[in-house]
Amino acid sequence: RTMSDAELSGFVRDVPDYPNDGIMFKDITGLLVDPKALSEAVERLAALVPDDVDLVSGMEARGFIVGAALAFRLGVGFVPVRKAGKLPPPTRSLTYGLEYGEATVEIREGTVPAGARVMLVDDVLATGGTAAAGAELLEQLGAEVVGLAFLLELEGLGGRERLAGRSVSTVLLAGS
Ligand code: PRP
Ligand code: MG
Repeated sequence: RTMSDAELSGFVRDVPDYPNDGIMFKDITGLLVDPKALSEAVERLAALVPDDVDLVSGMEARGFIVGAALAFRLGVGFVPVRKAGKLPPPTRSLTYGLEYGEATVEIREGTVPAGARVMLVDDVLATGGTAAAGAELLEQLGAEVVGLAFLLELEGLGGRERLAGRSVSTVLLAGS
């Protein structure tokens, strides 16, 4: 570890009322652009992953950035969980409820061998809806989701409850 929690948190910018009133947006751009912060974030994520994972999976879009870096760091492959309508068939999709409306995520069929031990990552855990959908979809395709890891957990939005029964770990905590 080359940075304190406070130092690493300093690379995340809080943007109030974006994209909607009452939402505190966590902008990780500054963390990504700084080589030491990016490396610290990826090393800390790697420390949260069980030894015997077969694959890392990440949620589009920001989960692709941290997820692909983590997969490379661990020497395993990466499974993208995409937003709807981006992947050619055959795909498997799952629609889930958001605070307002719904969203659909998709995985290309054939990317996850049955029984593969998969670590799912994303940048931020808020309500947990996105990650829950990703984990469920991976399981529908035959994966064993051995854990979920996030760079940043926003407390007080029910994410932990939404992911109850799963192994959830986070690099940094933030009040919301
Ligand atoms: C953000 C964030 C997480 C998700 C967390 O993604 O990157 O994926 O919301 O929220 P939840 O726990 O309430 O589901 P978003 O869809 O806003 O955009 P992105 O494509 O930039 O990742
Ligand atoms: Mg996202």
